[in-house]
Amino acid sequence: MAENNLSAASVTANLKTRFVGQTVIYHPTLASTMDVAKREAHRGAREGTTIIADEQTAGRGRTKRVWVSPRGCLALSIILYPGMLYLPSLIMIASLAVVRSIEAVTGLKSQIKWPNDVIINGKKVCGILIESDVKGNKVGYAIIGIGVNVNLRLSDFPEIVPIATSLSDALGRDVSRLDLIRHLLVEIERLYVALSTGGPIYEEWQDSLITLGRMVQIKMGKTIYDGIAESVARDGSLLVRRSDGSLTKIVAGDVTLRDYPPEPAT
Ligand code: BTN
Repeated sequence: MAENNLSAASVTANLKTRFVGQTVIYHPTLASTMDVAKREAHRGAREGTTIIADEQTAGRGRTKRVWVSPRGCLALSIILYPGMLYLPSLIMIASLAVVRSIEAVTGLKSQIKWPNDVIINGKKVCGILIESDVKGNKVGYAIIGIGVNVNLRLSDFPEIVPIATSLSDALGRDVSRLDLIRHLLVEIERLYVALSTGGPIYEEWQDSLITLGRMVQIKMGKTIYDGIAESVARDGSLLVRRSDGSLTKIVAGDVTLRDYPPEPAT
C-alpha cells in the first residue's frame, strides 16, 4: 500500500537538490497551489519554493479549464525566477521532468503531447500550467504548476474517463506520491540548471513529443487549424504544415491528434 500522508518534512528530508523543494509549503486542502505560489512569489519567496496540496478544491488548467485534483493525486507549484531567455523552456523542463520521474518511480513509459500534456496509452496522466509575471523584458517570477493523476480511480470520475488515465489505473497498484514528488523536484532542478549550461533539453523534449509527424487540429480561441505537425521551434512553438503548403507557427493552443490513438496492431 503506497503512503497517503504527505508533509513538508517528508518531502525535504535529505532531498538531493540545492534549491528546488528545499522550502516546501504543504496544505492538506487548498483552492489552488498556483494562487498560494503567486502570493509567495510576490512576497519574494526563495527560488524553488514549492507549494504542495493533497487536494485542490479549485484546481485550474490551461485556458481557464477546471483541473480535477482530489486526494491521491499530486498537485504542486514551484516558484522560479528565470531570465527572459529561459522562460519558453520551462514547459520543456517541466514535461521532461514528469516523464523521467514517472519512469523512475513506476517503470511506465509516457510521452508528451504538445505543448506539455503527459500521456500514457493515449490518455492524459499529467497537466502542466506555467504562469509568469513579465514586465517589459524582465521576468518577475514564473510558476510551474504540475498535476499528476497518481492514485485516482477513474471510474469515480466518469466525466474524464474518455480522456484521462492515472498511474494507479495504468499499473494496477497504488504509487508513492512522496517518491514521485521527490524525483520530480530533483529532475526539475537538474533540467533548470542545465538550461544555462547548454544541456540538450530542446532536443530531448522534441524527441519525446508524440505530436510530430501527426495530423493535428489546433484550436486557438475561435480559430481552428488543420495540418501536419512538422516540427517544434526552440521557443517551444509548433510548426504546422497546412494543406496549401504554408507553415503556421502555433505559440499556444489546444491540439487534437486526428489519427490518435493508432489502430491496435493485429
Ligand atoms: C492543464 O492540463 O490544463 C494544466 C493542468 C495543471 C494542473 C496543476 S495541479 C497544480 C497546479 N495548481 C493548479 O490549480 N493547477 C496546476
